[in-house]
Amino acid sequence: MVDLRSDTVTRPSAAMREVMKNAEVGDDVLGDDETVIQLQELGAKMLGKESALFLPSGTMSNAVAIRCHTQPGDELVTESKSHIYNYEGGGYAALSGCSIRLVQGKNGMMTAQQVRSAIRKAAGSQSHFADGSLVCMENTANGGGGVCWEQSEIDAVSETAHDKECAVHMDGARLFNAVVHTGVPADRMVANCDTISICLSKGLGAPVGSLLVGDEEVIENAHRWRKMFGGGMRQAGIIASAGIYSLQNNIDRLSEDHARIRSLAEAISSLDSFSIDMEIVQTNMAYINVDEEKFSADDVVNKLANKGIDLYSTGPQDIRAVAHLDVDDEGIEQAISAFQSLSH
Ligand SMILES: Cc1ncc(COP(=O)(O)O)c(C=O)c1O
Repeated sequence: MVDLRSDTVTRPSAAMREVMKNAEVGDDVLGDDETVIQLQELGAKMLGKESALFLPSGTMSNAVAIRCHTQPGDELVTESKSHIYNYEGGGYAALSGCSIRLVQGKNGMMTAQQVRSAIRKAAGSQSHFADGSLVCMENTANGGGGVCWEQSEIDAVSETAHDKECAVHMDGARLFNAVVHTGVPADRMVANCDTISICLSKGLGAPVGSLLVGDEEVIENAHRWRKMFGGGMRQAGIIASAGIYSLQNNIDRLSEDHARIRSLAEAISSLDSFSIDMEIVQTNMAYINVDEEKFSADDVVNKLANKGIDLYSTGPQDIRAVAHLDVDDEGIEQAISAFQSLSH
């Protein structure tokens, strides 16, 4: 199968497995795992922050960040398509006791003006309002098509949030896809964010893990919440070593995934039964709209599965395709031929 469902499906390469086999390990709950420490130092340095914490998943990393920046009864502001709102089990409510104020932005991104209008403060409201204390952005914005924020917008939203005494968290599950696409260095991109979550197990190709990055004080606090959320791991150096390998070897090559998905999207958008907003095909994803007079998205997914192409439907007429380390040019050609055979 050519698996285009997600960039989470990659398996560790032989070279990565070799590094994992030889990793020095210790008990990381006791602070003894040198490989985890090395990964955390590397992540902090790459993002220009003081400290970082290794966590089992992006969902836990976002949940811990939200818990660090809020108190029960607070409110966070994010875009309506964000992963934090849509796909993390309502963790902001269950684990942090927060309400959420959604911004209807564009392609998963918000303007500073929208954020300013969305932040509500308890003070001055005769206690009517929840207390807005956190603004979360997502770059790349997955639900928006894998698009990249303009640096000026990240800075403006951060400034507005800080101005209103809100912390700023960046869900950077695919931050390095944005770095590669925009050419903005990672440390510059997040210079005005208080915490950043990056995923090692998506385009970067590690099997497990995320890093939460920020200043020393917030990461010390995050360490305690990670413990309470059950995310302290023992000989985690085995997987942290894969994370180090992924940061050292798999960032620049993300441009190959971007080029592959672009050629797939260009070919599919020229077919009668499908359309794609090419403006939002910027990184490793393409959202494909299926002509409802011809097929449903599930029809297409099932027909393509029979031709060896694995995809997700993301709505009744929508399909997402994602390029990653384990898809080569030949896989993309196969996918193009399979789509072409449906369009006749
Ligand atoms: C934007 C974004 N944030 C967070 C996550 C959560 O990561 P995980 O699956 O490791 O919990 C994902 C996963 O797909 C994601 O796309």
